[in-house]
Amino acid sequence: MEDLATFLKKKGFVYPSSEIYGGLSGFYDYGHLGTLLKKNFEKLWRKYFLKLGNYYELEACQIMHEKVFKASGHLEHFVDPVISCSKCDFNDRADHFITENTKEKNIEGLKPAEFDKLIKKHNLKCPKCKSYFKPTVMTNMMFPIQLGTSKTSQAYLRPETAQSPYVNFKLQYDILRKKLPLGLAVVGKAFRNEISPRNLTLRQRTFTQAELQIFFNPDNFAVDFDEVKDYKLLVLLVKDRKAGKVKKIACKSLKKDFPEWYLYHLAKIQQFYFDVLQIPEKKFRLFQLSDEEKAFYNKYHFDIEIELDQLGFTEMGGLHYRTDHDLKGHQKVSNQSMEILDENNKKFIPHVLELSFGVDRNVYALLDLNYVDDKKRGNVVLGLPAKLAPVTIGVFPLVKKDEKLVKLACKVYSELNCCYSCIYDESGSVGRRYARADEMGVPYCITIDFDSLKDKAVTIRDRETTKQKRVKIKDLVDEIFKLVTK
Ligand code: GAP
Repeated sequence: MEDLATFLKKKGFVYPSSEIYGGLSGFYDYGHLGTLLKKNFEKLWRKYFLKLGNYYELEACQIMHEKVFKASGHLEHFVDPVISCSKCDFNDRADHFITENTKEKNIEGLKPAEFDKLIKKHNLKCPKCKSYFKPTVMTNMMFPIQLGTSKTSQAYLRPETAQSPYVNFKLQYDILRKKLPLGLAVVGKAFRNEISPRNLTLRQRTFTQAELQIFFNPDNFAVDFDEVKDYKLLVLLVKDRKAGKVKKIACKSLKKDFPEWYLYHLAKIQQFYFDVLQIPEKKFRLFQLSDEEKAFYNKYHFDIEIELDQLGFTEMGGLHYRTDHDLKGHQKVSNQSMEILDENNKKFIPHVLELSFGVDRNVYALLDLNYVDDKKRGNVVLGLPAKLAPVTIGVFPLVKKDEKLVKLACKVYSELNCCYSCIYDESGSVGRRYARADEMGVPYCITIDFDSLKDKAVTIRDRETTKQKRVKIKDLVDEIFKLVTK
């Protein structure tokens, strides 16, 4: 992980924020390559999920009214168990500290007294001064915000993007011709005052979420189940946890336990990971949460997990059936009706299916899975799929001293740069330039050599195979399109 962190900083992917002042725990900035990669992930996410139905994107405020979080339950329930030393300033999340220092597993969601019992059972003491811990305390994770000169906080930074579509629902439903299912998505920042931020961008205090809230009538949420009925999901069900084995189960075989619309979206999510992000099957699983582990607002809850180097399977997102929990809460606290009419003019509050993704975690996973320290080549190769790679094409003149060669290379570069993210590199040997491009994850490099001046053709080098082929300059745009979309 340290190698990866050093690499990510050195190449301009991601590094601690405010670093010239020593940094702040849990805050990271993306450099020029990281920003492009993150934007590409978001672009693919939008393209894939917003096309699934009558779905739209909103951009909404990150600071929200205190009552939003009274209604959602975050003021009361969005708490983490914290242990603090009775003598020094050490504190940590109880569940993290216990799992890291014992063999206990899956203890998220226990009550404070249960954590205290485990601390006693394993005789755990403060790692700094060896004193006893105070009893575990539940602590709210939201950041209060002081508005203007007011002394008390009436607002919070949103801890999830989800609340924005909920408070916008009624207005958008009316504007969008009162049609259900209606999807409202937000790709934006969320803020959580994590007790123990760690593992680079995997647990930060501000991070980007891409969340789609689908509002629907639970009596008639129709999906094209036939399309996925034989599709096999890679699931780890609660009942199979002990054996620890991921099973491949066809959607139709899970119908007795879950509604078709829930299974359909599990399938769509899995297909996104396999077909778009090109995650290897064995690194992916859908992890069912038990009643104790589920978020307080969920009826059905599977986490989307990817197996990371050293860290094992790690949550990237989830599929959450939030019922009418949120809209009901907003109706009660705001005194504004969230009810709508069904086909028989019967009033009901829509239910919500939430497709939730942590953008930074997914970006981290893509970097982690595609980072290869290639000893044979003598450099790192970042094997990102072409559609995700921050730079798609490198354009190199064989030498920089030949005016005609450079002129032709610049022409090729400016033509391709209209359609793709390109770099132009003329410094050092071509081998060195290929190595630099490998490290940036550039899938295709084009070299303009002396023959190019005569045959009006160039070589395209494939990052994965290092094989080269000659292509006419006039066919380049089409050829690259074929390669990128293959
Ligand atoms: N709206 C539902 C929701 O917020 P969540 O499981 O709390 O659910 C969704 O968060 C996703 O956001 C997680 O699966 C994870 O990918 C990401 N996430 C949560 N906390 C995070 C943190 N502290 N740092 C980075 N990503 C985080």
